[in-house]
Amino acid sequence: MTTASSVLIIGGASDIGRATALIYAGHGWKVTLAGRNLAECGRIADDIAVRSGQRPDVVELDVLRTDRFTAFVEAFPEAPDTIVCAAGLLGDQARDQCDPNRAAVTLRSNFEGPALLLGAFASAMAARGHGVIVGISSVAGERGRASNYVYGAAKAGFSAFLSGLRHSLVRQGVCVITVKPGFVRTKMTAQMTLPRGLTAEPAEVARAIFKADQAKRPGSLYVRPVWRPIMTIIRMLPEPVFLRMRL
Ligand SMILES: NC(=O)c1ccc[n+]([C@@H]2O[C@H](COP(=O)([O-])OP(=O)(O)OC[C@H]3O[C@@H](n4cnc5c(N)ncnc54)[C@H](OP(=O)(O)O)[C@@H]3O)[C@@H](O)[C@H]2O)c1
Repeated sequence: MTTASSVLIIGGASDIGRATALIYAGHGWKVTLAGRNLAECGRIADDIAVRSGQRPDVVELDVLRTDRFTAFVEAFPEAPDTIVCAAGLLGDQARDQCDPNRAAVTLRSNFEGPALLLGAFASAMAARGHGVIVGISSVAGERGRASNYVYGAAKAGFSAFLSGLRHSLVRQGVCVITVKPGFVRTKMTAQMTLPRGLTAEPAEVARAIFKADQAKRPGSLYVRPVWRPIMTIIRMLPEPVFLRMRL
């Protein structure tokens, strides 16, 4: 009898995390949801059990509690086959830029916590010789903009960390994938007016993650291809032109 592959979803109560968990469970994977809201993760696990016939395990995790990461990692008998990090916090740019303590929470929730936790699992995966790490970053990290540069800076840091992790693990059988979803219709963006052609549903992001995991091709991907030319142009705009734009 073969054992089922296992996936850990960090930020298990996120809308993208939930959609991703459902796809993996539907393919027979053993799913663990890790989140700070255990009751919500439990409700999601119940819902996934009804839809897929497999109830995910639920574990408590606050990505700001870096002091607990070693114990969290060691509680797994062995590292999951795949880890998907879907934890994140949009923050509030206007408030973050006036309050260093608030900005620190945005920076730590999107960068420090996710990066250090994935890094803590990486060595166990490398020692074993296989594993997939999927980090959900953002196009916001590709060029700092006035409207969201605290969140964007954190995602830029996270993308750079994932790039380095990918480079360091590629010869040890561990595949690191950076996912940049563009806009996604979730709790995080509920207050925003989203451009239709550029906005994905959580299930679309989840399918892209599962497909990338199956392909095991280390690298960075946009969920909707249209983001590649858009971000190429935004990155290449000369600074004097960029500074005149309201973004
Ligand atoms: N929606 C978009 O347009 C978009 C675009 C690009 C990238 N992303 C990224 O995609 C990922 C998933 O976001 P989403 O759109 O699905 O939004 P979401 O539903 O708001 O999910 C964000 C999740 O992060 C969790 N989280 C925040 N701080 C945490 C902490 N300290 N410890 C543990 N969990 C924490 C939240 O937990 P609680 O449920 O307890 O609040 C929530 O479940 C995030 O990394 C986000 O930055 C989203």
